[in-house]
Amino acid sequence: MRKKAIVTSALPYANGEIHLGHVASTYLPADVTTRFLKSTGVEAYYICASDDFGTPILIQAEKEKKSTQEYVAYWNKRDYEDFSTFDICFDFFYRTSSPENIEFVRYVFEKLRNNGHIYESEIIQFYCKNDKKFLPDRYVVGTCPYCKAPDQYSDLCEKCGRVPEEIENPKCAICGQSPVKEKTTHYFFKLKNFGDKLTKWLDENENLQKDVKKYVQNWISSGLVDWDITRDIPWGVPIPGDESKVFYGWFDNHLAYISTAVKFLNERGINGKEFWNSADIYHFIGKDIVYHHYLFLPAMRLGIDEEYKLPDFIPTRGHLTLQSKKISKSRNWYIGLKDFLSYYPADYLRYYLVSINPYSQDDLNFDWDDFATRINSELIANLGNLVNRALGFTQKTFSGMIPAPDVYDEKDKEAESKIKGLASEITPLMEQNHLDRALKKIMEFSIYFNQYFQHKEPWKKGLGTNTCVFLSVNAVRSISVALYPFLPQSAQKIWTQLGMQGKVSDVKWEQMSEISIRPDHKLGQIAPLFARVEDEDIKKHKEKLGSK
Ligand code: 2FM
Ligand code: ZN
Repeated sequence: MRKKAIVTSALPYANGEIHLGHVASTYLPADVTTRFLKSTGVEAYYICASDDFGTPILIQAEKEKKSTQEYVAYWNKRDYEDFSTFDICFDFFYRTSSPENIEFVRYVFEKLRNNGHIYESEIIQFYCKNDKKFLPDRYVVGTCPYCKAPDQYSDLCEKCGRVPEEIENPKCAICGQSPVKEKTTHYFFKLKNFGDKLTKWLDENENLQKDVKKYVQNWISSGLVDWDITRDIPWGVPIPGDESKVFYGWFDNHLAYISTAVKFLNERGINGKEFWNSADIYHFIGKDIVYHHYLFLPAMRLGIDEEYKLPDFIPTRGHLTLQSKKISKSRNWYIGLKDFLSYYPADYLRYYLVSINPYSQDDLNFDWDDFATRINSELIANLGNLVNRALGFTQKTFSGMIPAPDVYDEKDKEAESKIKGLASEITPLMEQNHLDRALKKIMEFSIYFNQYFQHKEPWKKGLGTNTCVFLSVNAVRSISVALYPFLPQSAQKIWTQLGMQGKVSDVKWEQMSEISIRPDHKLGQIAPLFARVEDEDIKKHKEKLGSK
């Protein structure tokens, strides 16, 4: 691992509210990872932006009788607010429609063209005579030519994950009529030029997930298709020399990872390009956009002579289903992030979503009953209980002053070694992005100390009581440090209740394994960390789903 990192998450379209599906696969894992990296001393920055361009946004703005700028500005602000409420802590949240990105996109295009990776070609484009519009991308639905799945958009088959070359049985997505075909001249990116280089990059990059690599390699060996990067719409980055047309959103959006990071870094007096090229680059994504991040994105970076280095990590996770059904906004089968956070604290959702989210392409399921069970039996009955018990007992019996340990028996020695070994147990899991497993280890550590406390029976005030209290309070401190990337607010609460100075976010990760609360240290104010999730509320939340 390098000592610098840039972390990004798939850029959210400035076109509707953030829901649980978005945060589960992308923003939360990236946020946890960035907090972890920072706490290990890596100079890490979490960069994101709203994805402002594209046909759906243009049409929606028109429908709402707003200018596109006004429309995307609304969602940019709203998304940022919702993320902040969820403690997704971006170092910088910008937009793909920024002047810096527009300039960078045009620069990249010119460089690709000079390097021989761009050509022009006359194409036949779907056109709806009824709507009097060219119909790019999402505005044509039909059957995927590869896997024959019906009702797929012409720019992405959600079933097989590929970008159809030509959709079968096309229909206009606005009015449902069959479109006609019209001629137009478009630019193409020669993705075919990059097959060998992409294969080499995939082979050599040890950090990419093996299963994802495998199917990307299959795509490459079954033949890459050049990529139409022009759109006949008035909303996008204007194409140099052909300003009436714009770039396809997927040509410009991932370039905002770079332009946004560079702007942020340059403004802080750091050379953005140098930083990028000496940092570990992480792009967190959901599995629906593998094609774009494992083919288009690296090919474009290769095409500009790796002026900005290729990603080191592309952590890719599955989709979230809700009560075992696909999320659908139109059927009201989704939970908005803002709504959720009006019911429960951010840390409840962070805990649940990390717990159920493996580092793989497997889909994960949000289930209201399971959520309640895990919060009540894991977060509250295990973790909250340990904190309350250890600190409460110290408060009651020692007026909040940590006693000096008396004797150490075998059990105490084992408990002490658990604390000393915690960092080395969790760190490799964090480094490999197995966030769910790391969190589980922290919870097992908490279970262990609950049992230890129970076993030692300090309320009997026999020999060993002081050691038990001393070690249990130190274990709570370890939990606070380890928990910080996952549950930042609860970690800070524990830290404050422990009577520790400063912020837990400033404590170094490895220090979780130190026994640094010394005798005579005084605890802070103690209060329960969490409140139960009640069955009647869960019932109401379930009834809300699917109803209009
Ligand atoms: O699929 C999406 O939601 C896109 N807005 C993701 C863009 S990521 C990018 F910029 F690479
Ligand atoms: Zn139409």
